[in-house]
Amino acid sequence: MSTTYPQKRAMARQPEGTCYRVLMWEACAVDEQHMQAWKDGRTRILAAMRDAGIKGARGKLSIFEKELKTLIFNNIEKPLTKAVRAGFSFARADALAEALSTDNAVLAYRLGTAAAEVLVHLDGSESPESMAERWQANTTGMEWEAQILVEALNLREAALWQEESSSAEQEATEASAAASDAEFHHVTVLAAEAVQALQPGEGKVLVDATLGGGGHTERMLQAGAEVWGIDQDPVARAASAKRLAPYAERLHIVAGNFRNAVQILRQHGVEQVDGILADIGISSPQVDCAERGFSFLNEGPLDMRMNPATAKSAADIVNHAAESEIADILWQYGEERASRAIARRIVQERAKAPITTTTQLADIIAGVLPRKGKQHPATRSFQALRIAVNDELGALEELLRTGLSLLKSGGRFAIITFHSLEDRAVKRYFELVTKAEIDRPEWPAPRPNPEYAAKAVYRKPVIPGDEELAANPRSRSAKLRVIEKL
Ligand SMILES: C[S@@+](CC[C@H](N)C(=O)[O-])C[C@H]1O[C@@H](n2cnc3c(N)ncnc32)[C@H](O)[C@@H]1O
Repeated sequence: MSTTYPQKRAMARQPEGTCYRVLMWEACAVDEQHMQAWKDGRTRILAAMRDAGIKGARGKLSIFEKELKTLIFNNIEKPLTKAVRAGFSFARADALAEALSTDNAVLAYRLGTAAAEVLVHLDGSESPESMAERWQANTTGMEWEAQILVEALNLREAALWQEESSSAEQEATEASAAASDAEFHHVTVLAAEAVQALQPGEGKVLVDATLGGGGHTERMLQAGAEVWGIDQDPVARAASAKRLAPYAERLHIVAGNFRNAVQILRQHGVEQVDGILADIGISSPQVDCAERGFSFLNEGPLDMRMNPATAKSAADIVNHAAESEIADILWQYGEERASRAIARRIVQERAKAPITTTTQLADIIAGVLPRKGKQHPATRSFQALRIAVNDELGALEELLRTGLSLLKSGGRFAIITFHSLEDRAVKRYFELVTKAEIDRPEWPAPRPNPEYAAKAVYRKPVIPGDEELAANPRSRSAKLRVIEKL
């Protein structure tokens, strides 16, 4: 086996690991010659600039970096993504893991767009290199380059990697399932306005707390920023990973609830960022997919969970919560005036038979409320249940409470809401932290505000213009508010 770029990168870390990360590249990996040419060019420019006392090496080097990215994209990512889509690589990886597990514990595996990686625990009876060669021999259908990177990991790294891998593996399964479904179509709201507000650019690190279909993130990436994209919905994450594959180097997609954004980023070693965007609510594919149970127009299971792992679905609430609790949900989150009458009817109906589908519930509500105007009588109740199932207001409050701590000084916090309850929470919080002083009638003079930490970027909320409203009626209730950390 010749000495190759990945091998040169191989490094053994202390303590001498029993856990190894083994990485193998597809046959179409970038060759040594290209890699060397890129590295030589980079070194030459750096040295020349240093000698001439010129600053801004990063910008001048971007030409080489772009070249490298194109090279990697065309030679590795594109063909591999195709193979992955065809299900080929995943099937191979299964066989691979099975073969490896006969002798040594295979803790996790994943197939990225550029390479296959396996985390193995070796008992000393075999070297990681020979194990990798055995792997290669066991997967004859896969066109592996004779390039293997073996990296000894300490236990903490191994645990982290394993955690990531299992979610990546789950996503991969979901991604291939989703790929057979309809494409993910979500029209991004206030796309230019929200992204510009975060002032993206090279060297900036931004958080898209509601990755969704990746519309906002794509613009941030196009502007040169590095992005951490959080979403609790595996279908959204898979769709974004596919759409944004060309930017994989600067995009980190993470599963989770944005209420834990600070902890999630800290786990990945990120303490502070330049901007946070949250585009609150649900995406069009979530509403449009009958199986997700968000829509009263399409027959589907009464689910409404953005994260399928959430404990309670809408059916759980409707069939098991107390009548008063259901009424409170409908009133608080849907501002539904007939909340008590609807709750009473739900309880009567569920005594006859469980309420399991969206249309069943919609019909029950329509039986209580006569239809007035264009709006379906179940609109407000469905919205209320969705907010309750996903604890949307609780998550937003938590993001508001913690978001500023994640920002650097001058960092921006932008939130798009679609609902008066959410906008009220954002407005109140943003007002609270942008006031230098507070005053109360009983005080003789205003006092310094201990919460003062930011300034407003726009005095009024930004709303969609006529063109956007005509193109995307779903944007009609959107409001963007932005503050900047002092
Ligand atoms: C309106 S969509 C975002 C669309 C995205 N900005 C785009 O342009 O494609 C909202 C997304 O946020 C996700 N989401 C909502 N609440 C969340 C939460 N508390 N934590 C993480 N993701 C959340 C939903 O699953 C959904 O995919």
